[in-house]
Amino acid sequence: MTFVVTENCIKCKYTDCVEVCPVDCFYEGENMLVIHPDECIDCGVCEPECPAEAIAADNAPAATDFWLDLNRKYSELWPNIVARKPAPADADEQNGREGKVSEFSPEPASQEDDQDDAVSEEPASVCNQ
Ligand code: SF4
Ligand code: F3S
Repeated sequence: MTFVVTENCIKCKYTDCVEVCPVDCFYEGENMLVIHPDECIDCGVCEPECPAEAIAADNAPAATDFWLDLNRKYSELWPNIVARKPAPADADEQNGREGKVSEFSPEPASQEDDQDDAVSEEPASVCNQ
């Protein structure tokens, strides 16, 4: 058994779930999170923490094969997330909106390393005297 992240996480991504998971088994995509089914210990503490009610036990009606497969697939591809982060600015507007499944992004979360862009050095203009 495992718990599964489902459609309403898309574009809500509140990340309250991440804070409570004792085994850090959430993985982050561009616009939703998934749970690694082999790492989840079925404790259930994340389920009531989600403001979007997007987490379900795998024997609940919301945990369809589609979402089970999606959680398994992308938990192998996306980076682990272990700390809460700010939700998207319009998360509350997205909460409960229908049809979000078509807006699922397979992209991993962007890595927010503040890398300084290498500034290409342009040759200084030559001053001919
Ligand atoms: Fe983590 Fe427990 Fe939720 Fe599984 S059920 S994802 S172990 S908090
Ligand atoms: Fe998604 Fe709910 Fe967690 S919206 S990020 S499953 S708290």
